[in-house]
Amino acid sequence: MSYFLPIHNILRWAVLLFGLLTVLKALTGVLGKRNYTAGDNKANLFFMISCDIQLLIGLILYFNNSWFDNLKNNTSVVMKTGMLRFFAMEHSLMMIIAWLLVHVGRSMVKRTDIDAKKHQRSLIYFGIALLIILAMIPWPFRQEVARPWFRGF
Ligand code: HEM
Repeated sequence: MSYFLPIHNILRWAVLLFGLLTVLKALTGVLGKRNYTAGDNKANLFFMISCDIQLLIGLILYFNNSWFDNLKNNTSVVMKTGMLRFFAMEHSLMMIIAWLLVHVGRSMVKRTDIDAKKHQRSLIYFGIALLIILAMIPWPFRQEVARPWFRGF
């Protein structure tokens, strides 16, 4: 059980790396009007896989570390306490929305054969997902919900 929190912490960097790569590629694709390549596909595939694993570990933490039980049994206290509300509601819900956007984005990109549209759709779906992820990470500079940049095993 104790391994999951450090893994969730470190995997965030993979999510951000592949997310940033995906969005930069989409941006250069739109601006440079270049073809949609296997490299573009690989970047957002890795973005999706890293989000999938992060979701799975997030769910394990959510149900095993009493976040869900607490929300269910002490709803009003959780909703009134910023840190508890963040992990029990805001972080988990918004990250699931970002994960959904990544999946919908990949299927929207696959649905068109026009390269310019593939880049545009990538930019919109993966771009919004990345912004949500950036906004909902408990960064060390976020007073109430601060968590470390790295966590050892
Ligand atoms: C791309 C998606 C996600 C990213 C980048 C992310 C990132 C993080 C980070 C950096 C932490 C702090 C880890 C630490 O304290 O060392 C955290 C904590 C947490 N995350 Fe996520 N997360 C994501 C998705 C999710 C999802 C989908 C859920 C649940 C459904 C979730 C549930 C949690 C919970 C419950 C904690 C607190 C764990 C604890 O202290 O017991 N996360 N997340």
